[in-house]
Parts: sequence; structure tokens; C-alpha cells
Amino acid sequence: MCGIVGVTGVGDALPYLLQGLQKLEYRGYDSAGVYLTDASGKNALIKEKGRVAKLAEKAKANGFAGTAGIAHTRWATHGNVTVENAHPQKSADDRFFLVHNGVIENYKELTETYLQGVHLVSETDTEVAVQLVDKFSKDGLATPDAFRKMISLLDGNSAYGFLLVDHEDPETLYVAKKKSPLLVGVSEHGNAVTSDAAAMIDLTKDFIELRDGDMAIVKPDSVVIYDAAGERVNREPFTLEIDPEDTDKGAYPYYMLKEIDEQAVVARNIAGHYFDEDGNLQGIPCAVTDAIEAADRLYIVAAGTSYHAGLIGKRYFEQWAKIPTEVHIASEFAYDQPMLSEKPFFIFLSQSGETADSREVLDNVKKQGYPALTLANVMNSTLTREADFALPVLAGPEIAVASTKAYTAQVLVQAILAASLGNPGFDLKAELAKVAVEIQAITDEKESFKKIAEDALKDQHSAFYIGRGLDAAVALEAALKLKEISYIQTEGFAAGELKHGTISLIEEGTPVFALLTQSKTAGLLRGEVAQVAARGANTIVFASEELAKEGDAFVLPQVNELLMPLLAVIPAQLVAYYATLARGLDVDRPRNLAKSVTVQ
Ligand code: F6R
Repeated sequence: MCGIVGVTGVGDALPYLLQGLQKLEYRGYDSAGVYLTDASGKNALIKEKGRVAKLAEKAKANGFAGTAGIAHTRWATHGNVTVENAHPQKSADDRFFLVHNGVIENYKELTETYLQGVHLVSETDTEVAVQLVDKFSKDGLATPDAFRKMISLLDGNSAYGFLLVDHEDPETLYVAKKKSPLLVGVSEHGNAVTSDAAAMIDLTKDFIELRDGDMAIVKPDSVVIYDAAGERVNREPFTLEIDPEDTDKGAYPYYMLKEIDEQAVVARNIAGHYFDEDGNLQGIPCAVTDAIEAADRLYIVAAGTSYHAGLIGKRYFEQWAKIPTEVHIASEFAYDQPMLSEKPFFIFLSQSGETADSREVLDNVKKQGYPALTLANVMNSTLTREADFALPVLAGPEIAVASTKAYTAQVLVQAILAASLGNPGFDLKAELAKVAVEIQAITDEKESFKKIAEDALKDQHSAFYIGRGLDAAVALEAALKLKEISYIQTEGFAAGELKHGTISLIEEGTPVFALLTQSKTAGLLRGEVAQVAARGANTIVFASEELAKEGDAFVLPQVNELLMPLLAVIPAQLVAYYATLARGLDVDRPRNLAKSVTVQ
């Protein structure tokens, strides 16, 4: 969940490291640190609580321009948010410096066994790792062997991405990874290591993906990789197809607003990728459709927003492809696997492709021999590599912690995949073109949603989103969006369930947003809106054109009902955005969260 960058042989290292950290800040942002060094061994360790900008000020004031360095942005797992606990962590004699992403499960046992008498200054598992390297080096091992020995002692469940510098060989970076993404960036003017390629695109677009168990030694002009068995291996770099501008905010005040606005373009890009000019589906290999058709049941596994996208996808797979489909929360499925059908097929949905809970499930089901497909936004990620098949969801880099365009992209790609397996009964390509136009139309109405958010939510402690059918699934996502960034406790609810308990929470003025796009249940939902209104709720209805009535807060343009979730979610995203702004909070970086949840 933390972000790691390192560079060597790049001239002035600090700007690359700080820029990298800024781009990685979405992975964690409670503290940050940088270690700089040069060929002569001159060095500086600078750490700061809070945001990368604060670290940047301190590092620039320090004035030391190293030619190599490692840096880290932290999302605390072990130990509070303090400067001592920030990374890099160092060994007692200031020889080794280490940044780490992941969790070392057995760090207490390791401390007791190997580090008796060593004074630990932080509460982190990472300090234990660096002190172990130091101990093994003092025992006579060369640095790569000391590093390898430390790794060999980690509990099998431990996840790590490590980046180590030895002050006695200052321009060499020692790298290792397991269950935590790490890439080596290669260029003619120095090399880099990063948890996310986007963080290093100012240096290079060529990256080598490290695999679990790999260890690499990265010098200014060479990269040597050893696999889990200790064999030297050759891994070809891939070229990242990304426009540096895609990862910039441009004129937008926040990434989230930019990403909300990008959804119309994303919808067009997805249609352009998966349909040819004649409207035929393309880009889904027969091997994928054959494997799904051989299954008797689909299991969609995901977390958070991606799970909510799966709830919508279920409808497409069942209604169009006629395949029974279950949707599961990854962290639950991982340790309480339900009874499976005879021929299950797994679909993993993930923006990052790195979510540890989903990876655990993929690991489990692979061991059981079941086929799996990953739909991910970040291709070349672990979930895409480790599944049998992978398809891109093509949302483009999503930086804001609150996911928006990845959700719509996941819904779109599931619709397309389901259409490739069955028959939607309408011209999906034409309808998606309309969806893109209407997403644009809704995002053009920002002022309406700003007003709704300010009037209804500015001073509220709690709120509700309700809906039925597909709208109930969108209500879950709408509620997550609002609560995760505005801190207004929001429940997303299947409207019919309200009367079975939750309605007692409705008080005078409680905001209740109703999503009303499904004709079969529109009458019932209107009834539920009336019931909460009669108990004092401030009801705000977002209804589709065909179902709208006088007094509704916003009329959603009409597209095929099954695709209405793609439109109904947009007002909810904008309301969440503006409510958060109105409350003076940081939209892109809500407290306690990280974009990519790489710990279980
Ligand atoms: C919420 C959000 C999270 C993610 C979840 C899964 O806005 O972004 O709920 O959806 O952590 O992440 P991915 O999709 O990367 O597997």
C-alpha cells in the first residue's frame, strides 16, 4: 500500500525521486522519506510526517544533490504515523538503508531470534528487516547474500517489495519482491525501481516487471535479475504506452473531477477497442469465450468499487449470456470459500490488478485448478499476469483514491464480454455510443450537482442512497463514493429493505437519494421515497427520463435500462465530489485510505 521509488546514475536524483513520490502518493500518504547518496558515499536521510510536499520542502532545503537514492510514501501498517516509523529505515551503524512495501508477518519472532540487544528506534517491521541485513553482513555475508538471507527468513505469507542501499557501494540498489508490485525502469541515462511505472515515466517508458521471488541488482548502467531459485534470468523490458499528460491534473483542481469528466471518452475508447467499424466484437480471444462457455457458473470476485461493478456485470452475464453468476467480496471468499459448481469460471475485477484480497483468491482457485480471467485497468499487473486470461478495461491511469472511471469501464467491459457470449437483444455498440454522449451531458451539469450537494449534505452526518434492482447495486457504489471522501456516514440500500429496520434511522432532514431507473420497480421505489419523506427525510430523486416526475432533482437521459447504471452513477460521483469540497476536505486523498490495497 506504500509507494517505493529508487534511481541510480541519473544525475541529480532528488527531482526524480520527489516527482515519483508525488505520483505514488495515491498509494499512501501519511509520511514520506528519501535517502540520497552519491558515488563518494556522501549521503542524506530526510523524512517527514504528512504529505510529500512537506518532504520536498525539507529535502530541497537540505541542498544535497545525490546521484542515487531511494524514497517511500507510507500507509502505516505497523507502528503509528511518526518520523521514526517513516521509511527509509536504517541499520544502527548507518550502513544500510531500506524502503519496504508490504507486511512482514513474523517480524516479532525474527527480532527475538536474531536481534537480541539491537536497539530498534521505530515500531516498524521494516526496521527489523534492515537490521537483519546488517547483522548478517556483520556475520560475514556479502550484501546480496545478507539481503537474500533476510528474505529467506520471512514468513511465507509475508508480502514485500524491498529496495536496499549499502553505504559501502552507494550507487547500487538491491531489489526484491513478492506479492507486491515492483518494476525496474531502464534507460541510457540511469536506471530506476518503482512500485508503479507511471511514477518514473519522466525517466523512461521501458520497464522490466519483476516476478514473485525475484531479486535484482540495479546499478547506473546494468540490471541483473535472479529468480526465486537464485538463477540469473533475462527479462525483456516492455514499453509503457502512456502519455505523461494522462497522469497530470491539467487545469483540474482534483484528479477525481478530471477522471469523472473522462468517462465519456473512456466509454468511446472501450467501444473503439472492442468493436470494429462494422459493429462486430473484436479483441476478446476465442480462448476466453470458449473457456467461459465451458463453465456452468461464473464467480466474479472483487473488492470495493470493483465489487460493485461486478454486481452490475452479473445481470449482463445472466440475462444476455444465460450463465448463472455469483459475485463475491474477495476478502470473504479468500477464507470462506462457498460451495462451488462443478465447472466454475472465475472473473477477477480490479482497477489496480494488485489488490491483495483478490490475489489471495486467485492463488487459491488456481491451486484448485479452476480457470480465471482478470479484467483490470492496469495491465501487466499481478492479477493480469497470474490469471489464465486478461482483458483491459481501458480507463487510463486513475489517480484519485475514489474510483470513478474504472467503475464505469469495468461495467462497460463486462457488458461487452457478456454480449460476446450471448445476445443483448439490442445494438450494444450504438447504445454505448449514446451512453458516451449522455455521460458527457450529465457531466456538463456540474453546477446542478454542486448545488444539490451543498444544499443537502454540507452539514450532515449521515445520508442514504436507495434503489431497487440494478439501482440497488448502484446505490452501494454511490454510498461508498460519498462516505469515503466526505466522511458522511452513508448507507447504500435495496429500498425494499428499509422498512425492515433501517427506516428508524430517518430523522427530520436526513438526506435520502433515490436512484430510479428501473421500470419494473419504479412504482415501489416511489412508495419508499414517500415513506421516508413522510418521516421527515429530505428526498432527492435522480430518475430516468421515462420514469421521471415533477419534483425530481435530476432527470437522467434515457438509454437502455440495463445500461442505466452507467449514467445513474455519474450524479452520485459529482455529488460526492462537491459535498467533499463544501466540507473543505481533500477530495483526492481521503484519510486512512490508499488507492491500491496491497495488504490483506
Ligand atoms: C473505492 C475504491 C476501492 C477499490 C478497491 C479495489 O473508491 O477505489 O474500493 O475499488 O480497493 O481495488 P481494485 O479495483 O484496484 O482491485
